[in-house]
Amino acid sequence: MADTTNVLTLEYEIMPVLAQRRSTRAYSDKAVAAEVVEQIFAAASSAASCYGEQPWRYIMGSKTSSSEAYEKILGGVLEFNQVWAKAAPVLAVGVAKLNFSHDGNANGWAKYDVGQATATLAIEATELGLQIHQMAGFSPDALRAAFNIPEGFEPVVVFTLGYPGPASALPDQTREREEAPRTRKPLAEFLFEGAWPTPAGERYDQATV
Ligand SMILES: Cc1cc2nc3c(=O)[nH]c(=O)nc-3n(C[C@H](O)[C@H](O)[C@H](O)COP(=O)(O)O)c2cc1C
Repeated sequence: MADTTNVLTLEYEIMPVLAQRRSTRAYSDKAVAAEVVEQIFAAASSAASCYGEQPWRYIMGSKTSSSEAYEKILGGVLEFNQVWAKAAPVLAVGVAKLNFSHDGNANGWAKYDVGQATATLAIEATELGLQIHQMAGFSPDALRAAFNIPEGFEPVVVFTLGYPGPASALPDQTREREEAPRTRKPLAEFLFEGAWPTPAGERYDQATV
């Protein structure tokens, strides 16, 4: 069943699943079946990538079926994220392969492609009634050491995965962030037809991190 909490409203009505995707901090106790986790990660494969390289790799840890990996990932997450991330049943690290396989040259789009793959699996998760919450607040060095991630690969994101739960279970400050209205820049601030706009200053609308 779709998560209809804090659905995004934009100037145009977009696909419901896109408006329903959100970075939840509150999770229910409902376990995530192994096949559901696999279906969500399988969706990453549908993303486009430079040269078709598919430079994304994911290390996944489940609280129930791979608790050691789960704890290692959680240990690499910075404390301000740990406080809510530890409630999620599944954690994952998105890793970029930094060089092209066909010629060994640096792949300047590797992280871009990990982002595309992760955005894609996020939508699959939302469609299945789950949510992911991506984090930059983690230690790449800690995760590299914990999982022996080799040279040529770089951890670029950590995320939670789980069924969303009630915000009432969260500590006050985190709950406020969870319930804060979701806002976005208006289209006119990032879509320019024909020419770069005359400077009007950058606006920052979203500060719920
Ligand atoms: C690359 C990336 C890094 C992020 N890092 C964090 C983080 O460290 N902690 C956090 O609470 N949220 C983090 N977020 C979540 C963003 O704050 C969130 O996506 C943004 O506020 C928009 O909210 P929404 O995803 O619910 O639409 C991150 C998101 C992305 C894509």
